[in-house]
Order: sequence, then structure tokens, then C-alpha cells
Amino acid sequence: MTSVPRHPSEGTERERPSLAVARAARTLAAAGVESARVEAELLAAYVLDVPRGRLALADGFTAAQRDRYDALVARRAAREPLQHLTGAAGFRHLELAVGPGVFVPRPETELLAGWGIARARTRPAPVVVDLCSGSGAIALAVAQEVPTARVVAVERSPAALEWLRRNAADRAAAGDRPAEVVAADVTDPELLAGLVGAVDVLLCNPPYVPRSVVVPPEVAGHDPDEAVFGGADGLDVIRPVLARAAQLLRPGGVLGVEHDDTHATAVPALLAADGRYEAVEEHRDLAGRPRFVTASRRGDGPHADGAPAWQTGSS
Ligand SMILES: C[S@@+](CC[C@H](N)C(=O)[O-])C[C@H]1O[C@@H](n2cnc3c(N)ncnc32)[C@H](O)[C@@H]1O
Repeated sequence: MTSVPRHPSEGTERERPSLAVARAARTLAAAGVESARVEAELLAAYVLDVPRGRLALADGFTAAQRDRYDALVARRAAREPLQHLTGAAGFRHLELAVGPGVFVPRPETELLAGWGIARARTRPAPVVVDLCSGSGAIALAVAQEVPTARVVAVERSPAALEWLRRNAADRAAAGDRPAEVVAADVTDPELLAGLVGAVDVLLCNPPYVPRSVVVPPEVAGHDPDEAVFGGADGLDVIRPVLARAAQLLRPGGVLGVEHDDTHATAVPALLAADGRYEAVEEHRDLAGRPRFVTASRRGDGPHADGAPAWQTGSS
């Protein structure tokens, strides 16, 4: 008796997803990938074009799909980021296009974006600025979730700007209010000159890792260096951003800046020393690590001209 293939059009048996995933999870775990099982499932769902939750119900892998899956698993085992393999990164309610040349948005940054969105919603037509925008994760989340906001996204890297413009165009085509993309260096003292004193919410996830820190292979080999490292102490971009933000924010406008978990004291101290901020507050991520700091621009007072305390000589 001859055996009949379950899917005659393929001319071969399909491999059950559970078997392929178990094999892939072992390969990824051996390569040091932290959430090996989850990532094996996500890659299987990507190849089979089904939601991860429906993998168990999916048809098995054809031979071609299995080859493709094995190739992707091998690349992931070589520590290429999952998001580069699928070409997409989830961020709040968005799916952003990502790949070589742009920083992959991280889940912890969703907290900073969420904080900014909540603050923006307290104003009827807020002006929201996202400095160091990368793929546009923060800016485009605000544009999607606060439709009344004018959103300005600033990025310097030409490669990242390509991804940012692509994501911004996709979101505008999907019906979100278009975000304005500005190619600029956020450390420029003249940054966004037309918005001085007009910004309601300023958000920034800058490069902040101190140069001496050894980062995982996914980061070292694939996130752009200028997206990750912030000089010897990690504060090279944060310092000028805090200074310029005080000029861009309206009195009562608010600032949120993500930072390294070793900066829980340093960044609040910089804000306090500036003299133009109040209500400085440190926030932790879901793992309990210090992750971002927020503050309000003081109202009119001795430092309202934009000069920090250390320049005016007052304390
Ligand atoms: C940590 S990534 C954050 C990207 C995005 N905001 C996110 O949260 O996923 C930092 C980004 O800042 C950009 N960047 C670094 N230095 C900059 C500078 N001086 N001016 C403008 N952008 C800069 C990098 O190219 C990178 O896209």
C-alpha cells in the first residue's frame, strides 16, 4: 500500500508546528537567546503567516516553509534581532518597519510614550516634540493616540531618517495626523528655533549607554552605535537636550527623558541644577529599574529668560 501525502499539492508531509518550534527553541536556547521558546513561536507564526496564538491550529510547515524557518532560526541563533528578521517591531498599538540602520524600539520605552500621551491629552491641541526619534516609535504613538496633537519628530542619522519617514508616511496613510519629521542634531543650541516657548510635551529617548558598557550581541552588532552610546558617562546627548528643552517648553510644559539605569541620580541632579525645572520625578520600568525622568518647566521667574542657574549665578 502506498502512503498518501496529507497535502497532495505539496507532494510531501507537513511538519507539525509544535515539533518545529521545539527544535528551534532548543537551538535558540543553546545560542543564548533569552526567551527562546517565545521567539521560536514568533518566527514560526511569521513564516506560517498566522497569529502566534493560533500556531497550534495552523497547517504544518511545507518543505519550503521549513527551510525558510530553519534559515531564520539560524540567523536568530547568530543573534540577529528578531525584529530585523521579521522587519517589524510592535510599539504600543503600532507596528513599525525596522531593519539595519535604525534602533529597534524597546518595550520599556512604551512607558515613557504612555506618560507623554497622558500629559498631552490634558491639553486641547498640544505641541509634542520627540527628540532622537529613530523609527518614530514615540512620535507616531503620540500621533496615533492623541489625534489633536501637532507632533514633531527630530532625528539626525540619515539611515534612521529613512525608516522614520517611511513609518510616518505609513501612519499618515492609515489616517493618523501626519507627524512632522525634522532632520537635525538635537545638541544644536538653535534646535527647532520656531518652537521656542511653544512646546507642551517634550519626549526623548537618547543614546545613553556609557561607552565602557558591554552590550548584548543583538545591540552591538545591529543597533547603530550612535543610537546606543552616549559618550564616556552616557550623558553626552542628555546634557544639551535638557538645556535646549528648557527653552523650547512653555512655562508649565513637561519633559520626559529615558536614561540608563545607572543614571537615576545623575539625570534628576542635572535637572535640579539647571534651575528652570520643577516637579522632577524618577520613574521605574516594569522590571523595577530606574528608566526615565520627568519634570515641568517652571513658570516665569528668575530663570524664565532661558538662562540656567549656573549662567545667571543664582541658585
Ligand atoms: C535610543 S535611540 C531611540 C529611538 C526611538 N526614539 C526609540 O525610542 O525607539 C536614539 C536615537 O537618537 C539618534 N541620535 C543620536 N544622537 C543624535 C543627535 N545628536 N541628534 C539627533 N538624533 C540623534 C540616533 O540616531 C537614534 O535614532
